[in-house]
Amino acid sequence: MANKTVIKRVNEHVGETVVIGSWVNNKRSSGKIQFLQLRDGTGYIQGVVVKSEVPEEVWEAAKSLTQESSLYVTGIIREEPRSQSGYEMTVTGIEILHLTENYPITPKEHGIDYLMDHRHLWLRSNKQRAILVIRAEIIRAIQQFFNESGFTKVDPPILTPTSAEGTTNLFHTKYFDEDAYLTQSGQLYMEAAAMALGRVYSFGPTFRAEKSKTRRHLIEFWMIEPEMAFTDHEESLRVQEEFISFIVQSVVQNCRAELETIGRDISKLENIKAPFPRITYDEAVKFLNDNGHEFTWGDDFGAPHETAIAEAHDKPVFITHYPASFKAFYMKPDPNRPEVVLCADMIAPEGYGEIIGGSQRIDDPELLQQRFEEHNLSMDAYKWYMDLRTYGTVPHSGFGLGLERTVAWICGLDHVRETIPFPRTLYRLYP
Ligand code: 4AD
Ligand code: MG
Repeated sequence: MANKTVIKRVNEHVGETVVIGSWVNNKRSSGKIQFLQLRDGTGYIQGVVVKSEVPEEVWEAAKSLTQESSLYVTGIIREEPRSQSGYEMTVTGIEILHLTENYPITPKEHGIDYLMDHRHLWLRSNKQRAILVIRAEIIRAIQQFFNESGFTKVDPPILTPTSAEGTTNLFHTKYFDEDAYLTQSGQLYMEAAAMALGRVYSFGPTFRAEKSKTRRHLIEFWMIEPEMAFTDHEESLRVQEEFISFIVQSVVQNCRAELETIGRDISKLENIKAPFPRITYDEAVKFLNDNGHEFTWGDDFGAPHETAIAEAHDKPVFITHYPASFKAFYMKPDPNRPEVVLCADMIAPEGYGEIIGGSQRIDDPELLQQRFEEHNLSMDAYKWYMDLRTYGTVPHSGFGLGLERTVAWICGLDHVRETIPFPRTLYRLYP
């Protein structure tokens, strides 16, 4: 067999005969020449089969190929400035692996439910592939950022005995004779880890049984949760803006072709550099009322409010100092104004909504005890968490980034369902 390679690396094989395992994306014929649009997951290349230059059986094999048939194609790599990739293959041999009949996804338009029912095949499309490549680059950049900033990766559990973010959207399961829940957030465990390792981050799946059918909600989504000992709210905000700038600029640098494939306006991303604007909850309330929204202090923002605030900025914006009343039990009150907490949500531009939620955590054992009582949380279940304050408590802060919302924003997609290979949404557990 000739030298086996992948489409992404044909530039290293100009003038050589190579073999590529591939699928037929599309095919054109002029009678004497067949043009095979081939894909192998790493890219696309055109294979040119010339009737007068190949044995009869190669010509016939090429003729029989259908959309999504699989094959080993052999040929000589040539530079071809007119092709998008810059290269082309002059085909000399074809070994058919499988001739596909009636591939369900044709070049015509399909509805979203049909595509989601065929998600396992839809992933092969150019755009879906590009999104998954960008998602992988975002994950790579996240890990690089934290590894280079002195964080240690720690893995919190998936099965948990208690809630971290309120009890209304827990996914219940049995744990032998006990009750258990799929994790909503690894935060409480990451606080324990920060007391052991200083700066830590987690990256894993989280679950919310939310009856929300919006373009921003998944039932199963991936979250990145850094936690930092000896770090106040202000320092945490600086980490967050550096972090997001780094991710976006990594994608701009390393995924230009994929961004072009999905039609993203790259100039909007190039502009995403720290520092990011900050407004307080109070200022946001005033802004909304000045701009035609009727909004009462003490209410939480909905999607239209977040979008209105985001539209006033061309970078992500932090909204800080929310009322304690509707935020999580563990957030530290502002010492100068205890009715608000030292927290921030980062709202992405262009209407993508909240991508980060974070806060400084309560470090005072008495206040934490009081919060447990106010929130009707059982002290037995959280005793271990109280221990973190009993034994060497320190100021600490952390945040959670939702991966899928970040991918949706960076890719400019109108729904999070395309940001994850197999989305779990309110009405979908298949495929
Ligand atoms: O704001 P949330 O609920 O914060 C926490 O869970 C904290 N414990 C994080 C921390 O401080 N360690 O969720 C964090 C982020 C949100 O900003 C959003 O990006 C994403 O997780 N998120 C969702 N993404 C998709 N579908 C859902 N149902 C989501 N819920 C939250
Ligand atoms: Mg939140």
